[in-house]
Amino acid sequence: MKLLEAPFVQGFIRMCDDGFHQNWHERNGGNLSYRIKSEEIESVKEELSRDKPWQPIGTGVPGLKGEYFLVTGSGKYFRNVILDPAANICVVEVDETGENYRICWGLVDGGRPTSELPSHLMNHEVKKAASGGRHRVIYHAHPANIIALTFVLPLEDKVFTRELWEMATECPVVFPAGVGVVGWMVPGGRDIAVATSELMKRYDVAVWTHHGCFCSGEDFDLTFGLMHTVEKSAEILVKVMSIRPDKLQTIRPREFRDLAADFHVTLPEEFLFEK
Ligand code: 13P
Ligand code: ZN
Repeated sequence: MKLLEAPFVQGFIRMCDDGFHQNWHERNGGNLSYRIKSEEIESVKEELSRDKPWQPIGTGVPGLKGEYFLVTGSGKYFRNVILDPAANICVVEVDETGENYRICWGLVDGGRPTSELPSHLMNHEVKKAASGGRHRVIYHAHPANIIALTFVLPLEDKVFTRELWEMATECPVVFPAGVGVVGWMVPGGRDIAVATSELMKRYDVAVWTHHGCFCSGEDFDLTFGLMHTVEKSAEILVKVMSIRPDKLQTIRPREFRDLAADFHVTLPEEFLFEK
């Protein structure tokens, strides 16, 4: 099969374009990675090269040795992915030590995978283990309302989780584990990757203070839908806070417990505190 026609590549391209049209990807902002299934990589193997040199990932991901990923390029614009995928995205392979990667396809005009590759791969490693291999997509975006909230809410998991849950009845069903918050850190390196992947052991969503958001999911629809739901909830909260400083009414802890029972989700009691 032609690599560009493979359904997983088409799904990846569509998600980049959808994210751009949501206004989450100014300039080169944000990045996306997909852990490719063995049958998918097998179906496109004629187009993979083994000539490029191994490069250090900048961290160790032994749980991903020998795996292949489809990843956006560093400095590349999401809005250009649909126009010229081969110039803006790439397939990378992780070596047998989990310390190095090499480009097997794409970035035909040069370049390297996203500067957030350490965060993507460490999150993949954690989520692969935590989900029994089901999670395959890690998505980083710059949605304005989530970022705005990091200036006005305390940077605590329990505050972000509860405020976002309260803004739309379906939120606790879409992200029942809650939301983790990473305090401000320099992006693009191992330290922020370690901090984010630590939160990903527990959550599918990690907010990066004054920067953006990371989401993890099983496929493109679920992961895009998760980012979309979190950002919409943040937008409602920004509107509510703009209209008046306090809420006149909201969803109460008892009501969250009723919702959890009917929708068969478990909501951690630590997020159902009385205010
Ligand atoms: P890249 O262009 O290297 O993917 O970086 C964009 C970004 O959002 C960094 O956090
Ligand atoms: Zn970013």
